[in-house]
Amino acid sequence: MRVGILTGGGDCPGLNAVIRAVVRKAERHYGHRVIGFLDGWRGVVEDDWRELDVESCRGLLPRGGTVLGTSRHTPFNLPDGMSRAADTMRRHDLEALIAIGGEGTLSCAAEVSDSGFNVIGVPKTIDNDVGFTERTFGFDTAVAVATEAIDRLHTTAESHARVMFVEVMGRHVGHIATWAGIAGGATYTLVPEEPFDLDELCAALLRRKARGRYASIVVVAEGAKPRPGSLEIAEPQVDAYGHERLGGIASVIAQEVERRTELETRVTILGHVQRGGSPTPFDRVLATRFGVAAIDAAHARDFGMMVALRGGAIELVALREATASLKPVSPELLEVAHAFFA
Ligand code: F6P
Repeated sequence: MRVGILTGGGDCPGLNAVIRAVVRKAERHYGHRVIGFLDGWRGVVEDDWRELDVESCRGLLPRGGTVLGTSRHTPFNLPDGMSRAADTMRRHDLEALIAIGGEGTLSCAAEVSDSGFNVIGVPKTIDNDVGFTERTFGFDTAVAVATEAIDRLHTTAESHARVMFVEVMGRHVGHIATWAGIAGGATYTLVPEEPFDLDELCAALLRRKARGRYASIVVVAEGAKPRPGSLEIAEPQVDAYGHERLGGIASVIAQEVERRTELETRVTILGHVQRGGSPTPFDRVLATRFGVAAIDAAHARDFGMMVALRGGAIELVALREATASLKPVSPELLEVAHAFFA
């Protein structure tokens, strides 16, 4: 069997670990050959690829990013994109395509699968927002980076008696913000799931000051939204694929908090630091389990499915179902975070 593999969307730690696992099990266990398409779906449409074997995957397990490159391109961006992708599949005699990606790449995989391609999805994203899987790899690493940053900010916040705002990634959901906020002992956490009221935040920070504990940490997910009328936020810019460029909302909030409360604020935007570097052991193991399950599914011809972590075990779920909606932070975890708000 010949199998293609691609990585699409924003990168995250653990992508290379999936590639390595797919190639290792494909070659050593099944005797299948794997080729890697470059820059996600672009490589399939333009037939841009490289051979992958066990030798070429040496040293990949701890390496961040993706050796295949990534993009937000999809075959649907071009009028002849799907027919060119089909030509590529035929030219290489590919019997399966493993697509590793988040919401955008996997929704595209579901559509491509509906048009008759043999596709298997692998969920990745530091945002942890893909449905029907308890975790995506990359998330644990991002939470570790954000938690370390918060730990460091605590000491300088206390020395200067300031309110430190930490902006983390999370465009539609606040998994990173909620986990890092709980792990780092945040004073307040703002997430897209719960539109915030700026007056409430200011009141909480002033209550904390009145108790003699001025230094505060406020964790802000980049996609946090104010309640209507609570704060004016400029519309974000959009990239070539219609993807909003977020980042910077914490600065707007901090400025307004300082104006309304006279508390001194500072802002740290963690940005892509959360997505770079080596995956944590948890993410390496999850990525490896996903990679092994994906090539097993290809071998068993279980197409149109996505590998997922459910109840601690790896299962297959229908790509269509998994991409139907995003997974928000559970109300139970949000309640835990609330218990520590100032
Ligand atoms: O992969 C998801 C994500 O990390 C989001 O949390 C973030 O908003 C986005 O990607 C950033 O994308 P880009 O790399 O295009 O700036």
